[in-house]
Amino acid sequence: MLIFKSIGQIQSYLKSAGLEGTKIGFVPTMGALHEGHISLIKAAQKENKITVCSIFVNPTQFNNPSDLEKYPRTTEKDIELLHDNCCDVLFLPDVEEMYPDGQILEKQYDLGFVETILEGASRPGHFQGVAQVVEKLLDIIKPDNLYMGQKDYQQIAIVRRLLKLMNTNIQLKTIATTREPDGLAMSSRNKRLTEPQRNIAGLIYQCLVSIQTKEGLQHFSIVKKECEDILAKKGFKPDYVALADAETLEPLEDYVKDRNTVALIAAFIGDVRLIDNLLLN
Ligand code: PAJ
Repeated sequence: MLIFKSIGQIQSYLKSAGLEGTKIGFVPTMGALHEGHISLIKAAQKENKITVCSIFVNPTQFNNPSDLEKYPRTTEKDIELLHDNCCDVLFLPDVEEMYPDGQILEKQYDLGFVETILEGASRPGHFQGVAQVVEKLLDIIKPDNLYMGQKDYQQIAIVRRLLKLMNTNIQLKTIATTREPDGLAMSSRNKRLTEPQRNIAGLIYQCLVSIQTKEGLQHFSIVKKECEDILAKKGFKPDYVALADAETLEPLEDYVKDRNTVALIAAFIGDVRLIDNLLLN
C-alpha cells in the first residue's frame, strides 16, 4: 500500500501515466478503523481499479472540543488493517496540510433543511465541517465512486446534496451498516465505552428493531416513549428517537403506510454519543 501525506504527492501519483482512465474508488474516514470501514474498502475494490482510503480527524466537524480531543487515534493499527485488506493507497494528511490557512470555513454550504434537524440540530456546524472536508478530499482524489456508510444516514443525505452543489459526476455508493453480534453498530467511538457501558450499548439497536416491529400495531409516540424510558432506565441519555421520510428526512409524527421510512436514534452513554438507524420497509 502506498501512503501519501502530502496533497501534491498523492495528486501527482493519481495523475501519473499508466493510471489515466483508471477507475478510482474513494473511502474517506477519520481512522480508528473497524470492520464497518473495511466493508466500504471491500465494496470499492469490487468496482474500481484503485481504492484510496483517507484518514483525517477533521477538526472543523467537531462542535465539541473534548469530543475531538478524545477521538480515538490508532494510526499504526489502521495502516496494518488497510494493508492486510489490500487497500491500494492511503491518504494521511495532517491538519496543516488540509487547512494551511487555519481551520476556518471559507464558505457556507447551502445544505438546506436536512442540516437543521437531528444531528444538525444537536451538533451545530457539524455538517458544514463535513461538507468542507469532503469537498476538499474529493477535489484532491477526484474519484469516480465515493463509498459511505448508511450508519451515518443523515451524512449520506448531506453528501448527496454536496455532490449536487459541486455539479460533479462522482457516484455516491451507500453501504449497509456492519454490526457487532449484539446489534451495536460498529463505530470508532465504541472504543471509548467502558465494559459496563459496552454491555448495554446494544440496546440502541434493540430499540430500533422494536420501532420496526411495532409498525401498524401502535402509534409511534407510544413506541418512542417506551424506547426513551428503556434507554433512560439503563443509564443512557437519549438525544432523539425519531421517524423520518427515508429520502427527504422530513420528520414524521407517526408511521405512514407505504412510505419509505427510517428510524433514527442518538443517545449518550456517559460522554460518548452513539447514533444508529434502521430502514423500516
Ligand atoms: P468515520 O466516522 O470514520 O466514517 C467513515 C465512513 O465509514 C463513513 O462513511 C461512515 O458512515 C462509515 N461507517 C462507519 N461505521 C460504519 C459501520 N458500522 N458500517 C458501515 N459503514 C460505517 O464519517 C466520517 O468518518 C467523517 O464524517 C468523514 C465522512 C470521513 C468526513 O470527515
